[in-house]
Amino acid sequence: MVITGAAGGMGRAITARLVKDNFQIMALDINESGLEKLTDDFPSSIFPYKVDLTDAAAISDAFMTVNTKFGGVDALVNNAGNCYMSEFPNIPSDEFNLQMAVNFSSAFYCSQEAVKSMLKRPGIKKIVNISSNGAYNFDVFDPPHYRASKAAMDTLTKDLARRYANQSICVNSIAPAMTESPLFDVLSKDVLDKAISQMPRGRAMKPDEIAAWVGFLISPAGDVSSGNVIILNQGRDVR
Ligand SMILES: NC(=O)c1ccc[n+]([C@@H]2O[C@H](COP(=O)([O-])OP(=O)(O)OC[C@H]3O[C@@H](n4cnc5c(N)ncnc54)[C@H](O)[C@@H]3O)[C@@H](O)[C@H]2O)c1
Repeated sequence: MVITGAAGGMGRAITARLVKDNFQIMALDINESGLEKLTDDFPSSIFPYKVDLTDAAAISDAFMTVNTKFGGVDALVNNAGNCYMSEFPNIPSDEFNLQMAVNFSSAFYCSQEAVKSMLKRPGIKKIVNISSNGAYNFDVFDPPHYRASKAAMDTLTKDLARRYANQSICVNSIAPAMTESPLFDVLSKDVLDKAISQMPRGRAMKPDEIAAWVGFLISPAGDVSSGNVIILNQGRDVR
């Protein structure tokens, strides 16, 4: 299986959960020292691969390595992402392009490569996209290019779910709200405190709480779910 952004806050938790579930994992990330630490923690289950996921050719090379090393891909977690904080209408075009490349194009190209392999594999295959509640909640801080990148991801989820339903590839999104991770560093203290105070339990979610849902979707229990965007936010936006 392949996990992108495996060296980050959520990625580490997802990796730990899936190692516990006995998967062999190709961990993709641009953060070399983070990948080294991950490999030290899970030496027998992790194959680290440094890659810039904004580069489609580099993604293709990474999946060639996966196919050679593991014989193919049965599960992909598109988790790599970032949140750039310039505000509309003053978002520079290079920031807009990077936001879409890191959050959406990376998932698009990884999914293309994974599906080519999955179509040759037996059993039920899984793609889990880590989207964001920011694509659906317009009361909190998220800038529009971040929201749009995740909305694009969720449309890809539905397209691929429909396209490959009869070939046993399940595709779902998980869209979390505030979850403790190094990504919080992009926020000022005021913005962070306000966003956390809006969470019904008065605290952000923990990465392993999100990882548990990824593990569930990838387990046999998830075999009957495809095309869903699962929002995790402690019930914050129920009206
Ligand atoms: N933390 C939250 O509150 C929250 C909420 C909703 C959605 N998310 C989403 O969860 C996912 C994981 O975020 P996180 O909170 O763990 O943040 P994080 O910053 O801890 O992890 C992101 C990981 O992606 C990697 N990455 C970034 N750009 C890359 C690139 N070009 N090539 C390869 N790797 C790259 C980083 O090195 C990092 O390891 C993201 O997609 C994010 O949008 C996070």
